[in-house]
This record gives sequence, C-alpha cells and structure tokens, in this order.
Amino acid sequence: MTTTGSGSTYDPPADPARGAAASARAAARGHGPPPRTDRRVALVTGASSGIGAATARRFAAGGWHLLLSGRDRRRLEETASGTSAVLLPADLGAPQGARLLAEAALRATGRIDVLVAGAGIGWAGPFLTMPHTDIDRVLFLDLNATLHLVREVLPAMVESGRGRVVLVGSVAGCVGVREEAVYSAAKAGLAAFAEALRQELRGTGVGVTLVVPGPVATGFFARRGRPYHRSRPRPTSPGRIAAAVWDAVAEARDDTYIPAWLTLPARVRALTPSLYRRLLNHFG
Ligand SMILES: NC(=O)c1ccc[n+]([C@@H]2O[C@H](COP(=O)([O-])OP(=O)(O)OC[C@H]3O[C@@H](n4cnc5c(N)ncnc54)[C@H](OP(=O)(O)O)[C@@H]3O)[C@@H](O)[C@H]2O)c1
Repeated sequence: MTTTGSGSTYDPPADPARGAAASARAAARGHGPPPRTDRRVALVTGASSGIGAATARRFAAGGWHLLLSGRDRRRLEETASGTSAVLLPADLGAPQGARLLAEAALRATGRIDVLVAGAGIGWAGPFLTMPHTDIDRVLFLDLNATLHLVREVLPAMVESGRGRVVLVGSVAGCVGVREEAVYSAAKAGLAAFAEALRQELRGTGVGVTLVVPGPVATGFFARRGRPYHRSRPRPTSPGRIAAAVWDAVAEARDDTYIPAWLTLPARVRALTPSLYRRLLNHFG
C-alpha cells in the first residue's frame, strides 16, 4: 500500500486500482473530495468508439488512470472493461456539455494530466445541400465544444505546471476536402487553434499536440451516412492512431500525421497553392 504522511482522506486506499476507481466514481457524482491517484490521469472524449476507444485502451495498457467520455454508456463500459476507468457520459453537443464534463472530471480525480479531445462527427455531401442545422451541429461538436472543453481543463493544468492537450484534427483540415467543406473548416479551425494556443502556453509546462489522421477504419463513415469510397489513401486502423497519440504524448510532440506521408499534400498546398489546385483538379 502506498502511504502518505498526511493521513488525510486523500490517502490512497488499500487496493489502489479498485479503491481509487470507487472513490473517483463517488467524487464524480459529487460525493466527497477528489481521490488521490499516483497514476497519471487522461480524460478521453469520444472514448465509446473508434479512435477514442483505441486511445483509451492504449493509455490504460500504459498504466494511466482514465476518465472516459462519450454518450453511449454501454460502449463506454466496453472500452473500460478490465480497467479502473471512470465513466463520465456527456453530450458535448449540448450547450453546457463541455463545462459539465470538465467539472465532473476534475471532481473525479482532482487533476487531468492529458486531455485527448477525440469526440467528433462528419458530414459529407455538396455544401449547397447541407442543412443549416447540420452546419451548426458539425461546427459545434468538432470545434466549439472542443475549445470550450480545453478552456475548462486548462487552468488546472497551468496551475500544476504540467499537462498536455491532444486535439484530434484531420487531413481534411490541412487540405480542404471537396464535399466535406464544413468538416474541413472545423478541423482547420482546430489546427489554427492548436498553433495559437501552443504559443500562448509556452513556458507554462503545458503542451498542445495536434493529431492529423487520414482515413481511419471506424464507425465514423457509417455515422455520417456516406462510406469512404476512395482507393487512396487507404484507411488505417484506430490502433495505429492510438499508438501515434501515445508516442506523441511521450515525446511531447507538437503534431503527428498518420500516415507520415500526409504531411506532403499539406506542404504542397502551403508552398505552391496553384500547383496544389491543379493536382486536385486532376486527381480529385
Ligand atoms: N475515422 C476517420 O477517418 C477520421 C479521420 C480523421 C479524423 N477523425 C476524427 O477522429 C475523431 C474520432 O472519430 P472516429 O473515427 O473514432 O469516429 P467514431 O467511431 O464515430 O467516434 C466518434 C466519437 O465521438 C463521440 N461523439 C459523437 N457525438 C458526440 C456528442 N454529441 N457528445 C459527445 N460525444 C460525441 C461518439 O460518442 P457516442 O457514439 O457515444 O455518441 C464517439 O465516441 C473525430 O474527431 C473525427 O473527426 C476521424
């Protein structure tokens, strides 16, 4: 048993894994002070599926204590299976969703070392046919809710002098994908936010990582209502994205592209936009 000199109610219980999880659950419900855990704590949104679920499992395997969020409790339970993770179901599409989640997370453990903001949705089709409600829905969840969640958890990270915010962007945000205009805009917004925030946080001990996946084989495409139909790039596995997130956090990286060659189209676009557009017209 790990003991501390304080003898306070913050001391870890005899069975650290089960005890910490039980007291974290009680704290998350608003009963009692945040339990103390010696393990590092990651809050993962989108943990009920795909990239978020795989990332949560990777961090659990690495010995981290997890706070898992999504809307679907049953799938969150599947992600958490065999771990001491605390489930914090939340609808980040609701106006106060991000604030309520951050409050519950900080109540549960008293601190967050890493936030992995993985929750997101897509929408595909001609912009001219996109309902206004869907424009708002995609922008709110993929951009606004993420920014609000970061705004809520950052003060505690900065105060503790360490932490990392991991934003799950997309190659769509780097290059702008036809018939994914609003999704591309939301992810480009995340990329610009990551760049700006990183500068603001310099010297605080808190870092920002932008994860830039190409297509990934998850339920994302079925959920948006249009399957992935291109032959290239080929979809990668969510486990590969999770491994990249793990490495990026361990190495305190500013960004990570998966697969790595995806930096190429982004560079061509930045350096020679006219060539980039000619290539797009040709290859679509
Ligand atoms: N798959 C790809 O090809 C790809 C490529 C690049 C980037 N990404 C990005 O990667 C992230 C994860 O996507 P994925 O591929 O893992 O998709 P996914 O399997 O569909 O997972 C999406 C996650 O977001 C959560 N979510 C959706 N709406 C929510 C809401 N209103 N409130 C709270 N959580 C909500 C879902 O939770 P519930 O199901 O419980 O509601 C689910 O856990 C997204 O940001 C996506 O844009 C995906």
